Order: sequence, then C-alpha cells, then structure tokens
Amino acid sequence: MRMLKTALAALALAATPAAADPVPVTIGTTPGATINRDIFGQFAEHLGTGIYGGVWVGPDSPIPNVRGIRSDVVAALRALHVPNVRWPGGCFADEYHWRKGIGAPALRPSTLNANWGGVIEPNTFGTHEFMDFADQIGAEIFLSVNIGSGTPEEAADWLEYMTGDGPSTLAKERAANGRAKPWNVKYLGLGNENWGCGGAMSNDHYVEEMKRFAHYTRNLNPAQTGANAMKRVAVGWDSGKSDYTESVMQAWKSKVWSWDIEGISLHNYTVAGWPPHLPSSNFGEDDYANLLADNQRMDTLIAKQTAIMDRYDPEKKLFLAVDEWGAWLAPNPGSNPGFLQQQNSMRDAILAAVDINVFMRHADRVRVANIAQMANVLQAMVLTDGPRMVLTPTYHVFRMYVPFQDAVAVPVTYAAGTYTRGKWSMPRLDAFAARAKDGTLWLAVTNVDPNQPLEIALTGRSAKGEVLTAPKVDSINTFDAPNAVTPKPIDARGSGGRLVLTLPAKSVAVVAIR
Ligand code: AHR
Repeated sequence: MRMLKTALAALALAATPAAADPVPVTIGTTPGATINRDIFGQFAEHLGTGIYGGVWVGPDSPIPNVRGIRSDVVAALRALHVPNVRWPGGCFADEYHWRKGIGAPALRPSTLNANWGGVIEPNTFGTHEFMDFADQIGAEIFLSVNIGSGTPEEAADWLEYMTGDGPSTLAKERAANGRAKPWNVKYLGLGNENWGCGGAMSNDHYVEEMKRFAHYTRNLNPAQTGANAMKRVAVGWDSGKSDYTESVMQAWKSKVWSWDIEGISLHNYTVAGWPPHLPSSNFGEDDYANLLADNQRMDTLIAKQTAIMDRYDPEKKLFLAVDEWGAWLAPNPGSNPGFLQQQNSMRDAILAAVDINVFMRHADRVRVANIAQMANVLQAMVLTDGPRMVLTPTYHVFRMYVPFQDAVAVPVTYAAGTYTRGKWSMPRLDAFAARAKDGTLWLAVTNVDPNQPLEIALTGRSAKGEVLTAPKVDSINTFDAPNAVTPKPIDARGSGGRLVLTLPAKSVAVVAIR
C-alpha cells in the first residue's frame, strides 16, 4: 500500500508541468543618456474642470485653499515633484488673450471657451494665479503663446510683463498687480497644433509666423541667461497631414541670427481609432489589449520624428517635447463631451509606465513631455468632485517613478515573450533601469499580461520597492473607494546574489536594487 502511494505520488509529480523559470533581467553598467526630469511634466488647460474646480476654487471657497488654489491638489502634486506645467492650452492657448486674465478679478471680462464646451471663461485664473499655482507645487513654467489668433506684439508684451526687470510700463503694471520680481519662464511654446485648432496653417505659413514669434518674444529676466535661458518650442508633427517637423527643421538649419528655437513638439494620444470610443471604465480584456496595442505607436512615432531631426541636427541640440500624450477615451456617460472627462483605470497605469519607459529610452532627444492632463481631463493625475479628490492609478505611477528624474539610464536586457489577445499582441514585459544621482540603481518593470504573474531573476543583494496592481484591468479609484488601486510594498526573494521578483499580472513595479 505504501509503495503504491509513493508510485502514485511520483506519477502525479511527473504529470505536473514544471513552473517556468524566472526570466533573467540583466542590468548593465554603461551609462546612457540622462533622463531629463522635464519628461515628467504636466499639462493644465482651460478645459472642462481642469482648472476651475480641479485647481482653482477661489479664495472664498469652503474647500481648503491658499489664495484660491485648492490645497489637497497642491499637496498631491507636490509628492510627484512635478517639474513643469504647460498652460494655458492646448487649443485654448491660440484663443487666449493674456490681458483679460490680469488685474482685479471682478473687472476681468468673461469670454467664451469656444473649443471646449462653449462655456464661459471667467478669466479668474490668469497669469498671476497660474504662477502662484506653479510656485505652490514647486514646478517650472511652460507657457504656450497665442499664434493662431494673436499677434507677435501681444506675445512680446506678455513676455515683457512676466519677465521684465527694468522700469518699463509693463513691468510696473505687473508689480502693481502684486508681483515685483520677474518670473522665470523655462519653456515657451510657439503656438499649439497650428496645423489644426491653432489656425489650420500650412507648414510654410506656420514656419514664417513661428520665426517672427521666436524673435520678438524676448525673455528679459536677468536670471534667465546661459543654461537658464528660456527654451522655445516650435510646433511639430501634424498627425501625418504634411510634415511640420521637416519644415521647421529645414528652416532651423538655415536660420539667420535673429531667431532660434530649442525644441520641437510632438502630440500623440493613444486612442485606438478616432473618434475616441473605448470606455474608460467597465471594460474587459479586449479593450485592454486594443488600447495597449495601439499605444505601441508612441515608440515608432518618436523614432520617426527623431530620424527627421537627426538629419538636420545630428548633434541633438534641439529636443523633442512630447508635450501632449496619454489615453483619450470616450467621455464619461452623462458628462459634457466637450469636457473630456474620463475615468482612469489600471490600464491607464500600465500605459503611463510603458510610455514613460519609451521617453526614457529616447532620452537623448526626448527631454520634455507633458501628460494630458493634470486634473479632471483625459488621463488625469487627480479627479475632483466638489470638496472631494481622488488619486488615479496614473498618479501612482508618476509618484513611483520620481527616482528616475535626472537619473542616468543603464542598459537592461530580457526576453519575456509576448502577450497576445485576439489580433493584439505586444511585449509581455517592459523594463527600464537607471542610476540616480545618489548612486541607487532603480528598475521599473511592467508586467503587461493581465492574467499571468511573471517571475524575473535579478542580480543583487536586495530589490525592494512598490508595486501597483489591481484585481481587474478596469479597476478604478472612486471617491467612495479611493484606494482600490494603490501601491503596495514589493520585495524580491533569494540569496547569494540571485534574486527572484514576482510581478503580479497587470502590474507596474519600481524597485531599488542594492
Ligand atoms: O488635450 C486636449 C486637446 O488635444 C488640446 O487642447 C489640443 O492641443 C489637442 O488636440
């Protein structure tokens, strides 16, 4: 009887398939490009409740605020070490007239936000309020000037108003409005999508306008010279209609002394077919795979734009600013479609991690990126509803990735196969490693597979950090259940220099390897 039991047990063992060996993930030492912290930038447009409600509640609001800016949102964003915020748009920027947003709030005109829902723009949140907000969260400034419906004079005056240090009337007006010292403006966007909402300009027309604006929008702040000089960003890729990037680069190559730019922009949303139709909540694995498969375009598009830039600028003097990116999904049922309100799920967290890894792999050229958008709009960091605020899964990814800001990339190799669902297929594992200034080696690993955990083998004494996962691909944080998708500690097991880290299905992990 005993022999029979032993024989049966041996048979059962033989029939059990051997568990797959952990996938070796090898991290090299050769330093690569420095990851500019500005790729973790945000985008805040006057759109829906992105500003009004999401950032600004006004000084008389019962919602805790400092000079009208909500304190819960500020505290949340401070933890992200937001490097820069792009404002006031977007399409809104090419219809924005800055003078309407300064001076006594009660005297500011109400205008129409024709791009986004046709609602009234009270102009309560203007230049001073934006600068205050950026200061409160510790971010630098990325302003987009109005080329579409504005003039070089208007844009030049705005720059003088913000950065003038001498006794000019505009600098004095700024001081009279409460700000004596000039502000720093790190990046200046020369228009926005001028091939579309920014005036539907041909590429040649845009180039001529852009040169005038690049020349006349002078930053007069004495602190902004040399390495601190303001960086001008021209509009690039035009959704494939012609090629703005090619035309701008061509012009730059033969530029004359009076104008220059330092960067060129790329907007790329992950949509899986226009118009946006994939739901942002209550979806299944097909919609998960569909969106993430479509997201692979980010890498090919950046490679394409980089190749164009390389032909004119092999020394990589100019940077590529992916200054609008993220998932663009169907509007929340019942919401104003012009407000671009969508939920934010575990799928968004995976998408964000994969895209940030793409930017970091292209760090020699991609030196600025701005996710769309900061609050309540598209792939947001925070969602607000009156006094309530919730952190999204995307927020948690940005928080977990803070150690990568200004770190130096190191090579990482692995072969983990693909995840396939129906007609959609993509790499199962996405990994990136970098060494921070303090010498710590950081590894970011995303297990894209929504069904199977993945074990990876690493070399080191310990690998500890945080992992973000959720029961379902469409798990979300809500005002009533704000911690459904929230990071947890993760620790590798093993000894003798060999570590095994188990990545749950559909997860993003960031670990420090000692
Ligand atoms: O982020 C929403 C809009 O998308 C921006 O206003 C515009 O630049 C882009 O088309």
